[in-house]
Amino acid sequence: TQRLFFDCDTGIDDSVALLYLLARADVELVGIASTAGNVPVDVVTTNNLAWLELCGRPEIPVHVGPVAPLVAELMTTEDTHGPLGVGHAELPTPTITPDHLDAPDAWIEASRAHEGELVGLVTGPLTSLATAIRRDPGLPSRLRRLVIMGGAFHTHGNTTPTSEWNVAVDPEAAAEVFAAFGTAGAPEPIVCALDLTEQVVLTPDHVVRLAAASGSSPLECPDPGDERGLRSVADNEIIRHLTDALRFYFEFHQDHDEGYIAHLHDPFAAMVALNPDLVTTIPARVDVELVGTLTRGMTVADERWMSPLGPNARIATATDLDAVFDDLIDTIGAFARA
Ligand code: BDR
Ligand code: CA
Repeated sequence: TQRLFFDCDTGIDDSVALLYLLARADVELVGIASTAGNVPVDVVTTNNLAWLELCGRPEIPVHVGPVAPLVAELMTTEDTHGPLGVGHAELPTPTITPDHLDAPDAWIEASRAHEGELVGLVTGPLTSLATAIRRDPGLPSRLRRLVIMGGAFHTHGNTTPTSEWNVAVDPEAAAEVFAAFGTAGAPEPIVCALDLTEQVVLTPDHVVRLAAASGSSPLECPDPGDERGLRSVADNEIIRHLTDALRFYFEFHQDHDEGYIAHLHDPFAAMVALNPDLVTTIPARVDVELVGTLTRGMTVADERWMSPLGPNARIATATDLDAVFDDLIDTIGAFARA
């Protein structure tokens, strides 16, 4: 059993990541931190609670993070994830409530309770984790592994020309987290940046396969001439909500001329968190531009050892995409069927 603490800004792809984590019988999800990002933190929290209740896991604690980034004003992106962060899904209002510990304290407590064992996964801005490290600088060295979805190195950004969303929302937090892992004793975070996560391209066919794997009634796949036609008629509640969420994500990507597809950034990072062998990595010194007038929020990687400082991260550079989708579909499908 791997013990994992999940920090997210749920979010459509965060939702898929959460379902994947819940679906893995060999994972103990010790807690979930809600961090402001895709939507405000109270909406992130509601979504996390709603998914947990829907999946029959109300005992997993959800911890509320800060309402705003460390320095920047909060930006949210309802355009990308829908007005409530879960696309077209209408999740039932949760009856469970958040835990009394806030997200930074929950990070600290989890790292103390499971010292040397805990896998951390961040698929949102790094505000909660940076705040935790400010409160307890010993936190990084207590983790077994940390995986971060964030950054863009040899590709364009998705928020500004040079910056990726999770870093762009709270660049100071990202900078502080990377700096904290430059020190001895702390594991180098594995960074899943856009360079790789934009290759994790979900298509309607994958969703049709997922519905089939769950034993749900067949979904209608769109014809080439009817791209907006992914019909969500699944009788399985989890698959129906997931399809409704993903349909919005497909539409968003299509509106940005990327086709009727979706990038599954966060589920990919979740898979890497549980199985780092899924990716090839290179060591690098990663830092975040904070003052550039054009490039604030850009992640800069020293991959050629120019800095006297040693590496503080491992950047994921390659993976087996067929294995990623087979595992995602089989794991969530079997979970939804049960
Ligand atoms: C990241 O931005 C968010 O909108 C997604 O959930 C993902 O974590 C990709 O840049
Ligand atoms: Ca996210």
